[in-house]
This record gives sequence, structure tokens and C-alpha cells, in this order.
Amino acid sequence: MERRNVVAATDNATKDRLVPGEGIRALFPFFSEGPGGCYLDSAATTQKPAVVLDSLRHVLVHANANVHRGAYRLSALASELYDDARQKVARMIGAPSECTIVFVRGATDAINLVARGAEHLFSPGDTILLSLLEHHSNIVPWQMLAKRRGLHIAFTDITDDGRLNMDDFRQKLAALKPKLVAVTQLANSLGTVTPIEEVVALAHKAGAQVLVDGAQGVAHLGVDVQRLGCDYYVFSGHKMYGPTGIGVLYGRPERLEKLEPVQGGGDMISYVSTDGSGWAEVPQRFEAGTPAFPEAIALGTAVDFLSSFDRKSLIAHERELVHAACEMLRGETGVTLHGPASAGGEQVAVVSFSIDTVHPHDFATIADTHNVQVRAGNHCAMPTLRRLGVQATVRLSFGAYSCAKDLGAVRDAIREARKLFSR
Ligand SMILES: Cc1ncc(COP(=O)(O)O)c(C=O)c1O
Repeated sequence: MERRNVVAATDNATKDRLVPGEGIRALFPFFSEGPGGCYLDSAATTQKPAVVLDSLRHVLVHANANVHRGAYRLSALASELYDDARQKVARMIGAPSECTIVFVRGATDAINLVARGAEHLFSPGDTILLSLLEHHSNIVPWQMLAKRRGLHIAFTDITDDGRLNMDDFRQKLAALKPKLVAVTQLANSLGTVTPIEEVVALAHKAGAQVLVDGAQGVAHLGVDVQRLGCDYYVFSGHKMYGPTGIGVLYGRPERLEKLEPVQGGGDMISYVSTDGSGWAEVPQRFEAGTPAFPEAIALGTAVDFLSSFDRKSLIAHERELVHAACEMLRGETGVTLHGPASAGGEQVAVVSFSIDTVHPHDFATIADTHNVQVRAGNHCAMPTLRRLGVQATVRLSFGAYSCAKDLGAVRDAIREARKLFSR
């Protein structure tokens, strides 16, 4: 295969705008060759369009040589595609340069990298301010850091309907003077959109650096990291139609320069001698060993795929589904909504609820018999659910391929479950 064909196979932005909804299921082999059905767990991981699957295969078949090493053409081609993917990611999130993009395994890996790499920048007694909306990935790495360095961890409270309590945030900023604030852009448990621009501006004014968890936000809201002004932004490829095992840490150049590399090995060094080693430039400094380059290249294809939608209409589609889901659920006996929509507020891509007589796990099992896949449990957000006084919820989460038909199937499953578990 010629070089230009390999590049073309991984370069898949279409000039025709894609329209979200049932029609684009034709682009996802999951719905034709795979189990299909009403897949309502896209917040956990999205299904993959054929272009992403093809891209992965193309690289492994036609450009499979280790990157940044070989002097032969195949390795140069793999390296070129890998570097292109970094540029695509940088463009998608409005980063100033591809040097601010570190390829990691996912959002969790990115947060752990910052928590380890910035360890020397914290002093005992410093505070890290999180929020009660965070995924465990944006809590546990900081708790581990706090234990190692003798730091305090504080949490901004949320309201009873699951919004960030901005009064509490302001008070904690003023009283605790945190060194770092780490907050999600879009909560995976409730679909809450945080006022992230305000969070970043207030935190900076109070002298704190800000890490934004964009694991959900990147696909469902989008971001311009320069306009937002955050210090770090993290996300996973598999939640934005890309492969697993690949994700992104964006860092402002001056922040990445100050992080210590947390893994040593090949590719992250400028030299190695028996006396010691020197580090490569950022971002290679943080990418020790052979990277997941086929996955990174396929992530670049997922970036093209996402940019084939008009972002506003994609967001509007997912908002409409949330709205329709809430309407449907409000009409069902025994159902309680959790999150901002329960009080008429805005949610994106996610709806959480419980049913009076049916445990969420039982509901998920019954729904599965209708070929409806929903998530049940604490959604890796135990502090959020505890604050709302529930142990588990049912979560519907949408992607570009979700449609109103899925909601009818959920309604049928709710009715059957309530019949089975009638008091
Ligand atoms: C808001 C949020 N942050 C972080 C993560 C962790 O992502 P990953 O498991 O891909 O590292 C998730 C996963 O669900 C998430 O929803």
C-alpha cells in the first residue's frame, strides 16, 4: 500500500456533515455486525465507528514499525502518523502546540501522571480542592499524593440537585487557599455541567492551578483549552469513539516543564550513561517506552470523526435526548430523577434515576433481557451518591448514535421491572 493511502485511511474527516441519531448507526459495525440493541452506556465507553476500526487495522497492517526509532521508511511513516495524531488532538482542544499533548493510557493515567509528576511542587500542609461531583479517578490519585506528602484534601459541596455549590467553592478558595483545584467539566454520574470557566477564573484569582477532568466533557461539550485557561485538561480516547488504552494529558507548556517524569525508559531520554540520564523534551519526556501508536493514530481518526459533526447540533441532539428521557421518566410511576434535571436544570448526555421497588442492579438485569444496556451502581462516584443520599442509581448515557427509540425500550423495561417487583 502506498504511503498516501495509509495516510488517507487514517484521515477521515468527511466534508458532508454527519447528522447525529439513528441514521449514523450505519457507520458503527456494532449495530450491524455486533450485538446492536439499545446501548445506553456511552459514558462508560462509546461504540466505535468503522473508520476508527479501519484506521487501527490499517496501521497494524500497513505501517506497523516502532515509532521514533527506525531509520527505514516504514518506521518514518508510523512516526509521521503518530505525530499527525498529536496535531489533530491539539487542534481539537485548541491547544497552542502539539508539544502540550502527552499521550497516556486514559484520563486516569493522566491524573496519576500529574499527581506523581507534581509531587515535588507541594509542601506538607498544602491543600488540594476537589468537588463532590468527581469520578474516583479525580479523587484517589490526589488522596495517594496527600498521603505521601502530608497534604489536605477538601471537597466543594454540591446542591441537593447535584450542581456545584459555587458559594461553597468561593468560601473554600478563600479559607483554604488551595494549591490545586481539580474539577470535572461534566459529571459522569449525573450529567451535571459545571461552570468550568468560572471555576478556572476564580481558582486562578485565588492562586491555585486547575486540572479539568474532560473525560466526559471532551465528546459531549467540547473545549478550547486556551480560552478556558486551565493548567491541565485530561481525557480518554475510548469515551470519544476512539480506542481504549489511549488518552491525553494537555498541560500548559510551563506546567509540563515543571513536572518530573514518572516513568523512565526508552524514548524519554536525551542521553543515558552509566552515571545518569538526561530527559528528552516535553512531551516525549512523559512517554517512556513504546507508545500505543496504533491506538493514538486511531484516536486521531476519532478526532476527525467527531469533527465531522456540527458540534452545536451534536450537543443539541444529546440535550434533546436528556430532555425526552426525563419527560418519559417523570411520567412513570415510582421513578425518581437525580441530578439537576430533577429540579428543572440542565444536564448533558447522562440521566440518573431510581425506581421505588426495584434495585438498580435488578433493573439493569431486566433491561438487558430487552437488549437495553444501562449502567447501575455508584458510577465510580461514591461521594456524589452519598451526598445525594442514595447508594446506587440507574444511569442512561447517550452518544451520537442514541435515539428516541432507545427510550421506549427503557420505559417498557421499567414497567416490567415494577410488575415483577411489585410490593
Ligand atoms: C468524569 C470521568 N473522569 C474520569 C474517568 C476515568 O476514565 P478512564 O477510566 O478512561 O481513565 C471517567 C470514566 O468513566 C469519567 O467519567
